[in-house]
Amino acid sequence: MTRVLLLGGTTEAAAMARALAEAGVDAVYSYAGRTEAPVAQPLPVRVGGFGGVPGLVDLLLTRRFTHIIDATHPFAAQMSRNAVEASRITGVPLIALEREPWQARPGDRWTHVPDIAGAVAALGEAPRRVFLAIGRQTLAPFAAAPQHHYLLRLVDPPTEPLPLPRAEAVIARGPFTVEGDRTLLERHRIEVIVAKNAGGTGAEAKLIAARELGLPVVLIDRPVVPERPVARSVADVMAWLND
Ligand SMILES: NC(=O)c1ccc[n+]([C@@H]2O[C@H](COP(=O)([O-])OP(=O)(O)OC[C@H]3O[C@@H](n4cnc5c(N)ncnc54)[C@H](OP(=O)(O)O)[C@@H]3O)[C@@H](O)[C@H]2O)c1
Repeated sequence: MTRVLLLGGTTEAAAMARALAEAGVDAVYSYAGRTEAPVAQPLPVRVGGFGGVPGLVDLLLTRRFTHIIDATHPFAAQMSRNAVEASRITGVPLIALEREPWQARPGDRWTHVPDIAGAVAALGEAPRRVFLAIGRQTLAPFAAAPQHHYLLRLVDPPTEPLPLPRAEAVIARGPFTVEGDRTLLERHRIEVIVAKNAGGTGAEAKLIAARELGLPVVLIDRPVVPERPVARSVADVMAWLND
């Protein structure tokens, strides 16, 4: 009997959940619980951390999961590392549904940086109006560059003061449109965008809008995760399950 643990929190995971539900596969969708109202899924949902590798190992064994699909965000590296380790310990096979990183096209003005600290440094000394499109969890390092004005886009309204002196937040949940992102960038007179190289379509609109407006982008490279089997499409994951 197949029983799938789907690690989610992304547009790709939602597509994966639809395919699993349509195929009648016994599967559970797992959210970290970072947002107040997670998007509904056509599968049973569990919410919250597992308690590191030991907790995940315990869950896999006691709930008799036969497969793990890691469809988390490419920057959710801790979860992906834990999943690889738990798969190794339990022998429950794992596949990652991983998007290709974005590649620059003609007209793009991208500066690649290895991490958040590199992005802070790349903004430079002179004050700029920055669209910080990196979510809520990794804002604090930008406090080291308080001369910039930051526009944030968050899923939920902040419950505590933002860690940046000159920042404003718009509340919105992806996927986003090029037209909408272009309007946002123009309305806020944005001069530079900071983004993670997530890949996929859900968050690409801001990069296309930046290209159209001729704006520079500071693009943060993906964190390294251990080697694991990777699928590029939902169909490939379904084929792997049916093997
Ligand atoms: N990082 C991003 O930029 C980003 C962007 C969009 C969406 N997301 C989504 O937001 C969630 C959290 O991302 P993150 O970067 O904070 O993760 P992370 O740093 O890699 O993970 C930290 C801890 O959060 C828990 N966790 C993460 N994803 C989980 C999941 N799908 N189900 C159950 N527990 C999970 C695990 O806790 P335990 O150790 O207790 O098991 C994990 O060790 C993920 O679902 C990810 O797909 C992240």
